[in-house]
Amino acid sequence: MPKTSTYVSKTPGPDGLFVYTAEETEVWGKLYRRQMDTLSNFACSAYLSGQAQLGFTAEAIPQVCDVNARLGQLTGAGVEPVAALIPQDEFSTLLSNRRFPVATFIRRPEHLDYIEEPDIFHEVFGHCPMLCDVEFCRFMERFGALALSLPADDVKILFRLWWFIVEFGMIQEEGSLKAFGAGIMSSPSEAKHAAAGGADIMPFDLLTIFRTDYRIDIVQPVYFAIESFEQLVASLDADIPNLITKARRLGDLPPKFDRAA
Ligand SMILES: [Fe+2]
Repeated sequence: MPKTSTYVSKTPGPDGLFVYTAEETEVWGKLYRRQMDTLSNFACSAYLSGQAQLGFTAEAIPQVCDVNARLGQLTGAGVEPVAALIPQDEFSTLLSNRRFPVATFIRRPEHLDYIEEPDIFHEVFGHCPMLCDVEFCRFMERFGALALSLPADDVKILFRLWWFIVEFGMIQEEGSLKAFGAGIMSSPSEAKHAAAGGADIMPFDLLTIFRTDYRIDIVQPVYFAIESFEQLVASLDADIPNLITKARRLGDLPPKFDRAA
């Protein structure tokens, strides 16, 4: 979490359940309904099918134990509650074991549209439906293992792939552009911006992604669109260290955002 965060991570009771207040549940419900208005026609089929399989509703914040039980049956994936942002190698180790680290607090009403640190709406509503997809889990597992095998400087570049795909990825589906990135799914302003065609769409290309910088505090000026999740998994067969070296040698592409803003 940012140093200025006023959010405190929740801990489960002895029964493994996290307790949420009525106000917190109302925040989930508002976000859920607002996002589904946009996403029911804009999220990709894997996301919508995953969400249905996880049984999310506007009425309750999902419990980690229930999400884990369902993901375990579907793909062998799971989530791991974490206190805050965790070190890179710990994060990558979890991914390599098909475990997704999740924060369990939820944003306050004043942060409904945007929150810098990932909360449970981002982690669970945003990310978990994609963990129901076998190919996506393969990608996550291999991404984590790859990150663990690279030197720290290369990992920074590799994580541009995480940003542009896992957080803000789009997919071409039956002639239409659909979204699956958790940063789009969990942010009302980002989802509206993406659905309205407010950003440039680039074809998926690892070298281009490795040469593309980003800002975390603005709606994204560019999204990358994959053709399929099989394509995404197969992309990791490339000589990634060599591509990262090449990206570094060529330098970053001109940014589509204002660095000074
Ligand atoms: Fe995320």
